[in-house]
This record gives sequence, C-alpha cells and structure tokens, in this order.
Amino acid sequence: MKKRIAVFASGFGSNLQALIDYNNKHGLNGDIVLVFSNNKDAFALERAKKNKIKAVFMDPTRYSSREQYDSEIIEMLEEEKIDLVVLAGYMFLLSQEFADRFKNKILNIHPALLPSFKGTHGIKDAYRYGVKVTGVTVHFVDEGLDSGPIILQETVDIDPDDSVEELEEKIHKVEHKIYPETVKYFCEDRLEIDGRRVKILNKK
Ligand code: GRF
Repeated sequence: MKKRIAVFASGFGSNLQALIDYNNKHGLNGDIVLVFSNNKDAFALERAKKNKIKAVFMDPTRYSSREQYDSEIIEMLEEEKIDLVVLAGYMFLLSQEFADRFKNKILNIHPALLPSFKGTHGIKDAYRYGVKVTGVTVHFVDEGLDSGPIILQETVDIDPDDSVEELEEKIHKVEHKIYPETVKYFCEDRLEIDGRRVKILNKK
C-alpha cells in the first residue's frame, strides 16, 4: 500500500520540490498528502498549493509551549493517517512526544556528514573549518539534535577554489538526489533498523 507522507518545511522548499518531481517522474510508492510549516511565508507552502497538496501553517506563537504546539500537530497527522514525516528544512526541534509517537517514521536531511557539523549552519561550518570533504546525511529523527540513526550519506569534495555559494550548490544537488531515494526506500519498507545501524535492503 502507498504510504501517506507529510513534508515539514520552514523555508524555500527545494527539497520538497525534488520529492514532488521525483514522485511525478519515477514514483515514491507514497503520496505527499500534506505540507506543514511553522512559517506562514515559507515558499514551500506555495509549492504545495501549486501542486494541489494540502498546505497547513500553524503559528507557534499562539501556543504556550512547544509541547502544546506539537500535540496539535500530532493530532492533525493522526487525522490525516500519516505514515511518514519528512523534515525538509524544518527549523524547529521536535518535542519528545512527537519523536516518540512517530519513532522511526521521521526522516531528516542534514547538509554535512553527521556527526560532524550538527546544527543550522552545516554547510558554512564545514567550509570555515576547512575540511576537504563534506557531504549530506539522511537520518531518522529522535528527540536530539541531528542525532538519530543514519540511513544514507554521500560525500561532496570541497575544492580549494570553491566559494561557500558554490559549495552550497553542490550540497543541494546531492540533497535533491539522495532524499527522494531514501524516502522511496522507506515507502518500499526497505529500511531495517538495528539500534543505530540501518540497513537498506536490496540496494544496488
Ligand atoms: C537543506 O540544506 C537541508 O539540508 C537543511 O535545510 C535546507 C532546506 O533547504 N535541513 P530547502 O528549504 O529544501 O531548499
């Protein structure tokens, strides 16, 4: 059966777009039925509307705590019978309740090779540190920051002449390739989790 996917995004939504395009072209074995944002101006919401996907904004300032905010989101996800939550530039840490309720059903993409360069500036931090190789990580989400089991990683070389903008471009290109691939693996029930180790079944 096809999985029901919710994508969470706070901003531009290029990864959301990559997922939509991949689904139209190759199929994810899932339907993106909902795009959620904590930011009413997120371009991701526009992308959802353009693609006739339900777009939902909830204003976090109207809730007294993150727990309350997340409880309301969980209720909505349950009503929509969501099987998978895909974080794509969602700039909010999830509450413990959220992480528990959707354990092993939330994916995130991080623009560095975890566990290095956690946090919101993975690309710039790697560039400034001077590493020669960085990359992209897709992982399951737990209650920590960029800390859940790693599913897929791909490296990106940092050439001596690269500007940070050029590096950003290289990273995004890899993101748009490996995030849809990972979502498809999930939707095809091909991810086997053993503690922190994740095996992709029948990977070519
Ligand atoms: C991506 O670089 C992703 O790795 C990070 O946030 C960024 C989102 O970009 N988590 P976009 O909104 O998908 O264009």
